[in-house]
Amino acid sequence: MSRVKIREYVLADLDAYADWQSDPEVARHITWLPKTRAQSRACLADAIAQQTTVPRIRHFFAVVLADTDETIGNVGLTITGPGTGDCGWFLRRHYWGCGYATDAAQLLIEYAFQALGLERLTASCAVGNSASERVMLKCGFVCVERSETRAKYEIQRTAWQQAQQALTADAAKPPC
Ligand SMILES: CC(C)(COP(=O)(O)OP(=O)(O)OC[C@H]1O[C@@H](n2cnc3c(N)ncnc32)[C@H](O)[C@@H]1OP(=O)(O)O)[C@@H](O)C(=O)NCCC(=O)NCCS
Repeated sequence: MSRVKIREYVLADLDAYADWQSDPEVARHITWLPKTRAQSRACLADAIAQQTTVPRIRHFFAVVLADTDETIGNVGLTITGPGTGDCGWFLRRHYWGCGYATDAAQLLIEYAFQALGLERLTASCAVGNSASERVMLKCGFVCVERSETRAKYEIQRTAWQQAQQALTADAAKPPC
């Protein structure tokens, strides 16, 4: 069972949301960060407003610890074209290095392919953002383009489904 859950944002998430958005270390590879608390409040309000837009373009979720419900970060995707979404992940610094981003990204991928029925997910990061690139690789993304400054990845629904089936088949095998 996953150690984290993803859920829709509520206004009470502001402290946790502003925590990662204002952190210069989280912002190190991100051009649109850091943000002030007032800016974070506006971003969070927008993320909440997006929950009821039809069609919904932005799907941003709080990442929470499964056992305590503490909000530890964000995963999300934006619909960028027919059947395609672009996704990303951000954790409060205190929670880095525990595998939580990978767990949360896997839940986001499942949501994208199963609940939304997307065919393809893209993700990208600054070259040098090794932690984010590693999350992509661990989730089964493949590199499609690398420039001096940016690495671009994608995962197709068919490849993800095959990987899930292989995992299920492995789990069903009797132990040696
Ligand atoms: C990217 C981020 C979400 C990863 O969170 P996390 O919970 O630490 O990620 P995970 O623990 O699931 O996986 C990180 C992997 O990167 C590796 N890693 C971390 N820092 C690294 C570094 N400097 N060099 C190489 N690998 C590194 C970890 O060892 C781990 O790989 P492993 O499981 O094979 O050992 C977090 O670092 C973060 O919030 N960064 C700032 C925001 C950001 O850059 N978001 C991505 C936007 S594209």
